Amino acid sequence: MIGRNDNCWCGSGKKFKKCHAPNLSPGLEAERLRDQYARQYQIHLKTDEEIQGIRAACQLAAQILKRLVEEAKEGLTTNALDQLARQLHQEAGAIPAPLNYGSPPYPKSICTSLNEVICHGFPDDTPLKKGDILNIDVSPMLNGFYGDCSAMACIGEISQEKALVVDVSKECLYRALAICRPGVLVQEIGDVIEAYAREKGCSVVHQFVGHGVGIEFHELPQIPHCYNDIKIPLAPGMIFTIEPMINAGKPEAVFDANQWTARTIDGKASAQWEHTVLITATGHEILTIA
Ligand code: MF3
Ligand code: CO
Repeated sequence: MIGRNDNCWCGSGKKFKKCHAPNLSPGLEAERLRDQYARQYQIHLKTDEEIQGIRAACQLAAQILKRLVEEAKEGLTTNALDQLARQLHQEAGAIPAPLNYGSPPYPKSICTSLNEVICHGFPDDTPLKKGDILNIDVSPMLNGFYGDCSAMACIGEISQEKALVVDVSKECLYRALAICRPGVLVQEIGDVIEAYAREKGCSVVHQFVGHGVGIEFHELPQIPHCYNDIKIPLAPGMIFTIEPMINAGKPEAVFDANQWTARTIDGKASAQWEHTVLITATGHEILTIA
């Protein structure tokens, strides 16, 4: 163990006590933090090797999502998007994580959530039409690692209400990402999102959260997008999604008979954008960029 009067491990030439103390070498410090987060919060801080694998899964997620958003046009069915997604996963040697996930098993490879659908819409034979807004959510497993992202596709000209939720949910996501760095509390993400959504006259869905991701599809921590009191500090090696669902009207979600699909209780529009983000030593890295 390095002594307080030894030269610091960083090579500054200064004594450890005048330099990086009490932080041990970067490697040891990371391991101490990993142990602490596992014990205290059941959160797995990823190793550099794991990060490499998760980064690849996230890049694939972003590439597939980009292609699907480009293909989403008037007249195309969401089943056709699901088929294309299935093919793109297969060509990359990846497995769509949603397929058969959960209980009852999710039946499709992606989620396609139209207009007043908040999330977990099933692709079906309904053709897209002018004025639709569509969230496409893509989450591949590649070499055992998971990535997760979603974006909105707008079909032709859309109403003011729909344009509002599309824009506000995207801005909420990027404002939340912008504050991500070590030491920021999980609750601050919800603060940023809900404050902006309210300012724009929109509401934030409470019934779904962002989540740790990478080794499993859904891990801790939960990342609420609304005001909350989770005082867990973000730490290097944390990987999670931020995926705010923003409604034009009331925040409540009601479920279809399929037990998955959530839609707004008042039938007003809902929109969502999602990235997977890594907390680094000095800030963050958005992993789901194509
Ligand atoms: N990003 C979505 C989520 O984390 C993906 C859902 S896929 C599903 O909930 F299979 F769970 F529907
Ligand atoms: Co997700």
